[in-house]
Parts: sequence; structure tokens; C-alpha cells
Amino acid sequence: MANIASRFILTGVVFALIGMPLGIWMGIEQDFENRHLHAHINLIGWVAMMLFGLVYRAYPAAAHTVLARIHYWVALLGALLFLPGIHLAQSAQFLPPVIFGSLLTLLSMILFAVAIWRARNTA
Ligand code: HEM
Ligand code: HEM
Repeated sequence: MANIASRFILTGVVFALIGMPLGIWMGIEQDFENRHLHAHINLIGWVAMMLFGLVYRAYPAAAHTVLARIHYWVALLGALLFLPGIHLAQSAQFLPPVIFGSLLTLLSMILFAVAIWRARNTA
């Protein structure tokens, strides 16, 4: 079964490599309109994904489950909808991606909670 911890960690790194240049670009341009996007690429993309990965490392019994794989794909899909959705909501008042993306992001956290709860006595 794929190593879910590594997948989350690598995914987090990719988001950091997008979120940080956006921060640098905002600083250079002195245009902070995209600060919410920047903040959430770094926090949902980098920080949350990285934490999921590290916690799955600490709970191998949780990592080696179908639930953890579903969690990964829900988290990724949620981020890929939610983050561009922030931009679309701000620039075009087009809300469906940010709504569905944020609900999927919340669902991913619920799946994570269940996965960790089931494995709570194994770490
Ligand atoms: C190369 C790295 C980074 C650069 C150059 C950068 C740059 C910036 C800039 C220019 C702003 C806007 C400040 C303002 O509105 O006055 C900002 C805001 C912010 N950044 Fe970053 N950032 C970086 C990395 C990160 C990381 C790693 C995180 C989170 C883990 C983060 C989280 C935030 C948050 C939460 C805000 C506040 C947004 C707001 O005020 O609404 N940043 N950053
Ligand atoms: C379903 C997930 C999430 C939703 C729907 C959401 C939504 C929001 C909204 C509506 C704001 C206010 C933006 C404004 O002032 O106009 C905000 C700000 C903020 N959120 Fe989130 N958030 C989510 C997840 C997170 C997570 C996981 C973190 C941290 C790990 C986080 C950190 C922040 C921070 C630091 C701010 C203030 C900086 C900013 O204004 O962008 N959020 N969020």
C-alpha cells in the first residue's frame, strides 16, 4: 500500500513551493490582495498536509488503512478546489469551488480524526 505519510509530506512541500513565491511576489509588488490565498496555500497546503504526514508517521496503524488513502484524496481534492476557489470568490464572486472545497477540507479533517481515533492506542 502506498506510503500515505510520505505522500502527505511531499504534497505539503509542493504547496509550500507555490505559497512562498506568491508571498514573495506580493511583497515585491506591494499588492496584498492575494494574502488570504497565500495564507491558506501555506496553511492548508503546507502546514496541514505536513502535519497529516508527520502524524501518520507517528501512527503507522492509522497510515496503513484504506481510510487514510481516502483521507489523502479528499484532502488533496479539497485543497485543489478550495485554494483556487478563494481567488475565484474574490475576483469573480464565483463561489461553488470555495464552498465545495472548504466542505471537502472539513471532511478530510473528520476522516483524519476517525483514522487517528481508531489507532489511538497503537502509537
Ligand atoms: C517565502 C516565504 C513567505 C513570504 C515572502 C511571505 C510573504 C507574505 C506577505 C507579503 C504577506 C502579506 C502581509 C500583509 O498583508 O501586510 C503575508 C501574509 C501572510 N502569510 Fe506569508 N509569506 C511567506 C511564507 C508564509 C508561510 C510559510 C506561512 C504559513 C505557514 C505564511 C502565512 C501567512 C499568513 C497567515 C499571512 C496573513 C494574511 C493576512 O494578513 O490576511 N506565510 N505573507
Ligand atoms: C475549511 C477550511 C477553512 C476555511 C473555510 C477558512 C476560512 C477562512 C476565512 C473566511 C477567513 C477570513 C478571511 C478574511 O478576513 O476575509 C480565514 C482567515 C484565516 N484562516 Fe482560514 N479557513 C480554513 C482553514 C484554515 C486553517 C486549517 C488554518 C490554519 C492552519 C487557517 C488559518 C487562517 C488564518 C491565519 C487566517 C487569517 C489570515 C487571512 O485573513 O487570510 N484557516 N479563513
